[in-house]
Amino acid sequence: MRNPTPSKTEIRGKVHKPLIHDSAIKQVSGEADYIDDISEPKDLLHLYVAQSEKAHADLVELDVTDVKAADGVVAVFTATDVPGINDASPVLGDDPVFAEDIVEYVGQSLFVVAAESIEQARRAAKRAKVVYNEKPAILTVDQAMQAGSFVLPTRQLKRGAPELKREQADRRLSGRLEIGGQDHFYLEGHISLATPREDGDVHIHCSTQHPTEVQHNVAKFLNVPDHSVTVEIRRMGGGFGGKETQGAWFAAMAALVATRTGRPAKLRLDRDDDMIMTGKRHDFVVDYDVSFNTDGVVQAVEFVFASRCGRSADLSAAINDRTIFHADNCYYFEDISIISHRCKTHTVSNTAFRGFGGPQGMVAVERMMDAIAHDLGKDPLEVRKANLYGKNERNVTPYHMTVEDNIAPEIIAELAEKSNYLARRDEIREFNKNSPYLKKGLSLTPVKFGISFTTTFLNQAGALLHVYTDGSVMLNHGGTEMGQGLFVKVAQVVAEELQIDIERVKITATTTDKVPNTSATAASSGSDMNGKAAQAAARTIKERLIEFAAEHFEVAQSAIQFMPNRILIGDKKTLTFAELVQLAYLNRVSLSSTGYYRTPKIHYDAENYSGRPFYYFAYGAAVSEAVVDILTGENKITRVDIIHDTGKSLNPAVDLGQIEGAFIQGMGWLTTEELFFDDKGNLKTHAPSTYKIPACSDRPDIFNMALFENAENVEDSIHKSKAVGEPPFMLAISAFNALTEAVSSVSNYELFPELDAPATPERILKSVRAMQIGVTSDRSAAE
Ligand code: MTE
Ligand code: MOS
Repeated sequence: MRNPTPSKTEIRGKVHKPLIHDSAIKQVSGEADYIDDISEPKDLLHLYVAQSEKAHADLVELDVTDVKAADGVVAVFTATDVPGINDASPVLGDDPVFAEDIVEYVGQSLFVVAAESIEQARRAAKRAKVVYNEKPAILTVDQAMQAGSFVLPTRQLKRGAPELKREQADRRLSGRLEIGGQDHFYLEGHISLATPREDGDVHIHCSTQHPTEVQHNVAKFLNVPDHSVTVEIRRMGGGFGGKETQGAWFAAMAALVATRTGRPAKLRLDRDDDMIMTGKRHDFVVDYDVSFNTDGVVQAVEFVFASRCGRSADLSAAINDRTIFHADNCYYFEDISIISHRCKTHTVSNTAFRGFGGPQGMVAVERMMDAIAHDLGKDPLEVRKANLYGKNERNVTPYHMTVEDNIAPEIIAELAEKSNYLARRDEIREFNKNSPYLKKGLSLTPVKFGISFTTTFLNQAGALLHVYTDGSVMLNHGGTEMGQGLFVKVAQVVAEELQIDIERVKITATTTDKVPNTSATAASSGSDMNGKAAQAAARTIKERLIEFAAEHFEVAQSAIQFMPNRILIGDKKTLTFAELVQLAYLNRVSLSSTGYYRTPKIHYDAENYSGRPFYYFAYGAAVSEAVVDILTGENKITRVDIIHDTGKSLNPAVDLGQIEGAFIQGMGWLTTEELFFDDKGNLKTHAPSTYKIPACSDRPDIFNMALFENAENVEDSIHKSKAVGEPPFMLAISAFNALTEAVSSVSNYELFPELDAPATPERILKSVRAMQIGVTSDRSAAE
C-alpha cells in the first residue's frame, strides 16, 4: 500500500499553473468548432439582411413582393411579421430588430430574406422597393452637442468645491482631446444558426457573450415563454464586448425564420456587413480644466465627456458611467467635477468594448498629467507619482469608495527601475537633439481598473456539475468562452476542488437549459464569478462524498481527505476518486449539483454615484518607447515593458496571453484603427483594406511582460486571483503618450502638441507641422 501521507506540493496542484488553453491545439489544427463549422443540417435556409441606405429617414414604403418572387427565396420577413415585440435591446426596449416607420442609421436592418443559398438571398434583397423620406442626420458628437441630441440624460459627479479650489491654485490649464472609436474585429463575425424543435420551440447556436439575454429577447420577439428558446455557444472567435448585446438581433431573425418555415436557418454576417451593422467602441470628445500647484499636485479638476452613443441607448448608461469611474485612474482628486453627455446620433448604436468606457476616461486623465508636467517642465512620471492615491489617506475615490488595495506605487516603482525609465529618458532627449528626422518618445502610465459590474444585480453566477460513475466530471457554467481562457480556468478550479486531473473534467458549451438566468461574460468577471460558482458546486458534491464515506467506513469526517487522484479514508484505506464515486452511487448518493455565487460587499447608489461599485481593483503599469519619422508621420512602438497584477494568477500562461493581446488591441485603438463616416453617415472603413488593425510586424521588437510578483487579492476572490480580461487594455495609453512626447520633441519640448487618438501617421504629421511653425493648439493653451 502506498504511503497515504501527502506531500505539501501534492495538495495544491491544479490552480496557479500555466496550463494550456483547452482549445489551443484544436484551434491551430482547425478542429475547434465555431458555429459556421457545425455540419449544416439538411434543408438549411441561408439568411441575408437588407440594410437601410439612409442615416435618418421616414420609411415611406417597403415593398418586398419582388424579393419573395426571386429565385430560391423561401420567405421574407419584415417588422409586420413579428409575432411578439419587435425589439432586442439590453435595457430600454429601443432597438427594433426590423425598422418600422423610421430608419436611424445606415445599415439598420429592414427585412430578412431566407433562401436556398446565400447568393440567392443576397441577390433577391436588392429587388425590394424602398422609399425613404430623408431627414437631416446628426452624425458627430459636435453636431449632437449643438443640437442638444441625447440618448440618455446628462450626468454629473461632483465632489468638494472645484470652483473654489481653482482660485487658490498656482496654475491652471485646459485642453480638449478627441478619442476615436474602435471596431471589435473579432475573427468570427456575428452568426446564429436556429433549428426548429417541436411545440414551436427553437434551439439557437449563437455567437454571443450573453446567451441568457439572447434567449429572453428572442422569446419576447417570438411571443413564447423563455423555456421555448434554448441558446447555446461552445466558443466565440472573439467577442471583446461586441457580442454582449447585439447578437440578439440576428438570433431573433434566424429564430423567426426557423419557427415560421419549419426549417433550420443560418444568418452569418460577412465582414463588411458586420462592421456596418453593429456597434463599436464609443468615440469621445473630452474637455479638461485642471488647476494645480507648482509640485504638480492637482487642486481642482473638471472633465466634460461627450460620447457618440448612436441611435439607441444599448449599454451606453453603464459604459459612460464607467468613464466617470475611471477618470481618476490611479490619482486622488479631492475637488472634482465630471460631466458626462451621452449623445444621440444617426449612426450605429455603440456598445461594449474591452474596458467598457473606462479607457476613454483614462486616456483623458493621462493626457492631462502630461499637460501638467509639460506646463511645469517636470518629468511626467514625477507628476503622476505626486498625484497617486495614498495608502491610508488620500484614498477615497470621487464616488466615495475607499481604495483599500492600492499597489500602484509599488508597481510603478518596480517598473521604472526594471525598464530603466530615467536613464532612457535622458538618452532619448540626447538622441532627439542629434536626430533631425527620427524622434523618440517614452512614457510610463499606470492602470487601476474596477472589477465588478456597476449594475449590482448582474454580479451573480451559476454552475452545474455532474459526476458520472466512472469518476469523470461534466462541468457547465454561465460563462462563455471567447478565447480568454475562462473555461480552462474554471476547469482548474473544479479539478483543484476534487483533486482530480484536469483531463477528467469535461468542458462543455454554455447553454441556457443547463444554467439559467446568467449575466453576460463581461466586465472581466467571468472567472471570478463562474469560478466561485463551480467551486461551490464541486464543494457540495465533495461534502456529500465525505459525509457518505465517513458513515460507510465508520470514521470521522475529518479523517476523509481528498489527495491528488485518491481519497484517504483514515490512515488505513485509500480509494481512487472513481472508486469512491462508484460506491457512493451504489449507496444512492446524488452526484450532481448546482453552484451559485454572488459577489459580496458591493453596493452602490446610482443616483448619487456613491458607494462601492467594485469588489476590488486590478493594477498594472507600462512603459512604451515610440519612434516617429517626422517627414512622413510613420511611427512604431519599439519597446514595451509591462508589470501587471493578476493577484495570485489562476493560470499565468493564459494571463500573459491576455496582457499581450490586450496591450496590442489597445495600441491599435490609439494608433492605427480609424473609423471614418462620410457626411451621409456611411462607414467608409468597413474592411481590413481601409481599417488597419495591428499586424504581427506592429508588435514591439522588445516586449517585456511580467506578472506582479507576490501579488494576492486582498479580497476573498477565487484562489486569490484577479480579473485580467480588460485591465491590461489600458496599458496601451503609454504608447499613445510616448508618441505625443516624440512629437513634442520637434519643438524642443517647448510646445505641448495637440494630437487626437488614434495617432495615425496623418494626425502625427499634422501635429509635427504645428510644432514646426510654432503653434500649439488654442485648445490646449495654458492660461
Ligand atoms: N480575450 C480574447 N481572446 N477574446 C475576447 O473576446 N474579450 C475581452 C477579454 N479578453 C476577449 C478577451 C473582454 S471585453 C472581456 S470583458 C473579458 O475577456 C471577458 O472574459 P472574462 O470575464 O472571463 O475575463
Ligand atoms: Mo467586455 S467590454 O466587458 O465584454
